[in-house]
Amino acid sequence: MTVDRDTSADSTAVDRSSRVGAIRAGIVGTGFMGLVHARAVSGAGGRVVAIVGSRPGAGESLASRIVGARSVDTFEELLHQDLDVVHVCTPNALHLPMARAVLRAGLHVVCEKPLATTVSDAAELVALAAERRLVATVPFVYRYYPTVRLARERIAREQGNPLWLLHGSYLQDWMGSQADHNWRADPAAGGASRAFGDIGVHWCDLMEFVTGQRITKVQARFANAFDKRGPEDRRTPVHTEDGVAMVFETDRGAVGCLAVSQATAGRKNRLWFSFDGPNASYVFDQECPETLWVGGRTHNEEIFRDPNLISAAAAGNAALPAGHPEGYAKNFENFVVETYRSIAGQITDGLPTFSDGLRAATVTAAAVQSARTREWVDVASMR
Ligand SMILES: NC(=O)c1ccc[n+]([C@@H]2O[C@H](COP(=O)([O-])OP(=O)(O)OC[C@H]3O[C@@H](n4cnc5c(N)ncnc54)[C@H](O)[C@@H]3O)[C@@H](O)[C@H]2O)c1
Repeated sequence: MTVDRDTSADSTAVDRSSRVGAIRAGIVGTGFMGLVHARAVSGAGGRVVAIVGSRPGAGESLASRIVGARSVDTFEELLHQDLDVVHVCTPNALHLPMARAVLRAGLHVVCEKPLATTVSDAAELVALAAERRLVATVPFVYRYYPTVRLARERIAREQGNPLWLLHGSYLQDWMGSQADHNWRADPAAGGASRAFGDIGVHWCDLMEFVTGQRITKVQARFANAFDKRGPEDRRTPVHTEDGVAMVFETDRGAVGCLAVSQATAGRKNRLWFSFDGPNASYVFDQECPETLWVGGRTHNEEIFRDPNLISAAAAGNAALPAGHPEGYAKNFENFVVETYRSIAGQITDGLPTFSDGLRAATVTAAAVQSARTREWVDVASMR
């Protein structure tokens, strides 16, 4: 049993023939992510044994959609099933107590992001997973697009093309109406930051994963489309941000800027980046993930996600020929395959672990502090 031994972008392609079939999973949380995880477990060759929701019987609907799964009444009951791993898919504030309980029960854990709502809570979980020598991963699943892996691989290999400008956005519109509300808007359930903690962390994780650069300083402003939310007759003040504008510096002297929003009309899940150098720039759009755009001085390239045409390492996460779109669900499945391979003691490349969850909590804390003080904040000071 090992934790992820993250090597380099050059490591060998994922061996799909080594899928792990015997992993028994429990799922806690039956919303959007509960379904995504349950399907990914099945797709990865694992078995969903038990599902639990917020009250007795709440897991039945999801269990009825997953072959072999059954609903149990309480989280404690779930932990007493014959399991190898538990997937925590509940609101953010529950991640700490639930992941802690899973690890203390001696089980591997996949815990949704944000891993915890404070840096110290995330650090506690990192330490506990290490102490128990259990695999503990966080679904920063955008890492698993073959086109993202291709960008990472090219950037790692190239010489003389310093990426000096790192910019992009992560835009959604599901909070675009004043009537829109969700547990994420409540700091007690979602944490001090909503848009940044929910989706900004995905962008930052992806930037650091693809470029190998680390954000060292941030200057952030939080903003809201609405200062009150809810039904017209019962609107209450909102204490978390609808969006963020952030500039940052990295450990290799690059500068960057990031826009994050959950109230940008027409953008559903548009995670977009451009990592720019004088000789080559790399552009990826999560809503069109089948191609990677690489800009050059004399010509540009648009590279298709085709396992026969891209490198073996990048193709490790691609199954179908180009023109047969894969997407977010396939990404998730690849992430679960890699988590389960790590549980089986196999070497993985780029598996996002609790350490990456702690990193995200740290960058989030820096953004929150900068938004409050309106000053530059050193990310390292958030430890
Ligand atoms: N990695 C990703 O790409 C990604 C995408 C979306 C959401 N997420 C994360 O996944 C988590 C869940 O988000 P979601 O969109 O599925 O939310 P959701 O509101 O759709 O689902 C949350 C579920 O948790 C259940 N729940 C609440 N309290 C519970 C308890 N005490 N015991 C058991 N179940 C309980 C709710 O009933 C609900 O079914 C969040 O932390 C979110 O940040 C990650």
